[in-house]
Amino acid sequence: MTTNKTPQSKHSMKNIDSNNHVQGKSIYVDDVPTVRGTLYACVFGSPIAHGVIKNLDTSKATEIEGVHSVLTYKDVPGENQIGGIIPDEPLLAEHHVHFQGQPIALVLAEDEKTAQAAVHHIQVDIDPLPIITNPREAHANGDIIGAVRTFTLGDTKTAFEKCKYIFEGKAESGGQEHLYLETQGAYAQPQENGNIRIISSTQGPTAVQRMTARMLGIPMHKIEIDVTRLGGGFGGKEDQATLWAALTAFGVYCTGRPVKYILHRLEDLKMTGKRHPYSSDYKIGLDENLKIIAFEAQYYQDAGASADLSPAILERTLFHCTNSYFIPNVLATAYSCRTNTPPNTAFRGFGGPQGMYVIEVAIDRAASEIGVSTIDIQRKNLLQEGSEFPYGQIVANCEAVSCWDDAISRYDLANIQAEIEDFNHKNVHLKKGLALMPICFGISFTNTQMNNARALVHVYSDGSVGVSTGAVEMGQGVNTKMLQVAAFMLGVNPERVKIETTNTTRVANTSPSAASATADLNGKAVKDACNQILARLQRIAADMLGVQPEDIILKDEIVFVNGKATDITWVQLVHKTFMRRENLSAKGHYATPKIHFDKTKEKGHPFAYHVYGTAITVATVDCIRGRYDFDCVKIVHDFGTSMNRIIDLGQTEGGLVQGIGWMTMEELLYNEEGRLLSNALSTYKIPDIYAVPKEIDVHFLNTDNSNLAIFKSKAVGEPPLMYGIGAYFAVRNAVKAFNPNTQMAFSAPITPEKVLMGLYDNKTV
Ligand code: MTE
Ligand code: HPA
Ligand code: MOS
Repeated sequence: MTTNKTPQSKHSMKNIDSNNHVQGKSIYVDDVPTVRGTLYACVFGSPIAHGVIKNLDTSKATEIEGVHSVLTYKDVPGENQIGGIIPDEPLLAEHHVHFQGQPIALVLAEDEKTAQAAVHHIQVDIDPLPIITNPREAHANGDIIGAVRTFTLGDTKTAFEKCKYIFEGKAESGGQEHLYLETQGAYAQPQENGNIRIISSTQGPTAVQRMTARMLGIPMHKIEIDVTRLGGGFGGKEDQATLWAALTAFGVYCTGRPVKYILHRLEDLKMTGKRHPYSSDYKIGLDENLKIIAFEAQYYQDAGASADLSPAILERTLFHCTNSYFIPNVLATAYSCRTNTPPNTAFRGFGGPQGMYVIEVAIDRAASEIGVSTIDIQRKNLLQEGSEFPYGQIVANCEAVSCWDDAISRYDLANIQAEIEDFNHKNVHLKKGLALMPICFGISFTNTQMNNARALVHVYSDGSVGVSTGAVEMGQGVNTKMLQVAAFMLGVNPERVKIETTNTTRVANTSPSAASATADLNGKAVKDACNQILARLQRIAADMLGVQPEDIILKDEIVFVNGKATDITWVQLVHKTFMRRENLSAKGHYATPKIHFDKTKEKGHPFAYHVYGTAITVATVDCIRGRYDFDCVKIVHDFGTSMNRIIDLGQTEGGLVQGIGWMTMEELLYNEEGRLLSNALSTYKIPDIYAVPKEIDVHFLNTDNSNLAIFKSKAVGEPPLMYGIGAYFAVRNAVKAFNPNTQMAFSAPITPEKVLMGLYDNKTV
């Protein structure tokens, strides 16, 4: 059709938001000009983590000057329910509360300060119930959400009988706060005839629309969601933006006035869910050649107080339970356990990282018990073309070995190892540790039905182009990629293309921007729409030139016939097409082909393709203080054929650092009363510029497989996060270099405190 080079030829295009971002001109929800009459909302949350509400008294708050009203569940006109997968989450608590901060009442006031102050005048009497904060305890009590899931391959029982080495143990990984720079928030405005328009900071506009309509008892078409961009989502706004948006719409419904709610950072930390902590058991068996023959695991997921996305996240833990390795006999069981903390939710990797951590623990443990190198076991068991995942998909276009081997030779692993050995020999109180971390991440929503998208493309009569999709820009650069797709397909300069806001009246029934699949799904929908318009333009051009439509291509804003430039420009052709009363707009649609999954058998082909890579991480531990730094992370990553190397590099670096934070320093703590202790940025530490590895080297492994990625440019949003697991093992190995007898438990994050304890437990001097 076109012989434009490829969108890859524009691969160094800057993020289209970068200029506005650095000048502070980008628009977020709180930047939208407020309309006269706007009310400000604030939630009254449960002061205790579990109990039965005996009495709720909002009268004092209502009497405060400037307070318009205080709403409770009794005012909800439709279903008091926002649960997406399982209806177990009320908008506002009725008789039970299940976590500290659970919304009970909504204050609406003339200004923000009054709303916030009024909340303190609401009184609630709650009969306390026992508080559970440990997922294993919840499991023992039978408090499980949804189905227990088990993935099986081969037969572990007979396989373990043949193993030379068998090890069992426990692995714990902690939660993680999203800490998007823009807190949760929404601004709802009444429209005529009882319609409501919501400006929302959400990854899932359709989810907001659907839940709000259900809660108000009105059809979806009366609710319009508009999203310009998010100041970060990281999964925290896939499902959990809905509550706040629904609350503002509820306020509009009850008062007839616009309602705005931007959460204070401390409210956001306290009330919103995070990455799921997991507590897991594993059993690994190897033969005399260090081949992993059998692997069993039980995962206890800490779901928090309601289902939210936990069942889907649980499933992805199982999908990634063998990471980048082929293991012929697997038995993996996962439980979603209900506890009395805020409902945990999607976070970059979506349960995959938690699963991958456990297999890496098992391998590391086996290596140290047998007395061989972890790297040896990892390399011997990497996935190969044609091997089978525990969920039945056959490994195709496998880059596990190519990434690994390329990393080892490109970065000269032998030399790195020699330098570390030398350093550790010469230094008593500083020790270095090394770890390799291979990754394999499946691309597609694991819920097959969600893998579809639509786009609406308008070519205006002056030749400019407007593109609407279901994709939400949250900093990951998807708008830039959508613009590249449209400009490439139509053969126009990028300046001609505008990416519109994400709006449910222009593009309906969208899946959330998540699963790293946003550019693939929406990009292919844009491609489809552009192709439809292109076919019409080609027909008109052929007519003008007396040639066949298939002889025409559009490139560099010029009409070409059989490869030769004509003097007809893009603008002239568009104008002609308009004058001929042809349709210059098109709606594109895409649904990922070939994928399927049967939950009754737990087998299928759920992923369009997999993303691979290997990271080499070196850490230096200060063995007096327990502090550590990362000397370098050197990565070979399978990008397919990247369509935007600047954006993809940024995603890789950002994902890596976020993963390092999760694995090493971000310690999320609740006390036994279910109160968040790490409830401010003074008590919750995320990586800052000093914590970033001194050197991050990313090599683009260019592969050219005809996979289902947009223009062969593979999804990049989540996979690099899991390189952060390598940082955990690099620190651990440095500790072991100082104290070979350490009995450190496998418990992430490996904070400086844990490092210090590990350095001196069982230490022989
Ligand atoms: N990058 C930035 N800057 N901000 C974000 O919120 N979210 C991550 C990842 N990268 C995120 C990000 C998550 S959780 C996902 S699923 C993907 O981006 C979503 O976008 P994509 O599908 O376009 O990769
Ligand atoms: N990834 C991210 N978000 C999701 C998924 C998934 O696989 N399934 C449902 N929501
Ligand atoms: Mo990402 S956790 O799929 O929003």
